[in-house]
Amino acid sequence: MSCQRQLKILDHPLIQHKLTLMRSVETPSHSFRRLLKEISILMSYEVFSDLPLQNIHTNTPMQSMESPVLSENTVCLVPIMRAGNGMLDGFIEIVSNALVGHIGLYRNKETLKAHDYYINLPKAIDVGKTVVLDPMLATGNSANTAISIIKKHGANDIVFTSILAAPEGVEAIEQKHPDVPIYTCSLDERLNENGYIIPGLGDAGDRLYGTT
Ligand code: URA
Repeated sequence: MSCQRQLKILDHPLIQHKLTLMRSVETPSHSFRRLLKEISILMSYEVFSDLPLQNIHTNTPMQSMESPVLSENTVCLVPIMRAGNGMLDGFIEIVSNALVGHIGLYRNKETLKAHDYYINLPKAIDVGKTVVLDPMLATGNSANTAISIIKKHGANDIVFTSILAAPEGVEAIEQKHPDVPIYTCSLDERLNENGYIIPGLGDAGDRLYGTT
């Protein structure tokens, strides 16, 4: 993993290999979905490396012992709809007892500003680590809007995760929410005039669900 300020780039060979397959225009939706889920599973090892543990008493076939398990309500996963749902599939596979909230945002095609149309967050979001999921960190408008909403609901240990990031998006989060670490698999070159990441992988939602 390489780090710069609050930005953590997950450069594990398995992640980078799968990311290249995701980028290819030849990759069909069903493969894109599977790859996004697999990358999310791999990302979770890094994102959750500091989760708190508590000992419980357990009996092995040989003897009893004190052994660590995750504490209750330690994780809340919040996908930004709709592309974030593709990452949720992977993260929830690893932390199956996570709380899950949803934030629906759309971006105005002219201003590129994010507007919310759906917010449903668990009450206990203030208890543990909240992981925001959105495959594409582009302008940072959606990310910052989602993080602000989550903070208003009481969360204070928040991380943002994406598959790709543009330098503009990273800077936007670092400006508005410097307390929020960013995990991504690649820092790409730039945004184009329509707010798409270059070289990127296109529209993540469309590629996930086969829409255009
Ligand atoms: N959202 C996407 O799906 N792709 C981009 O390149 C930027 C934002």
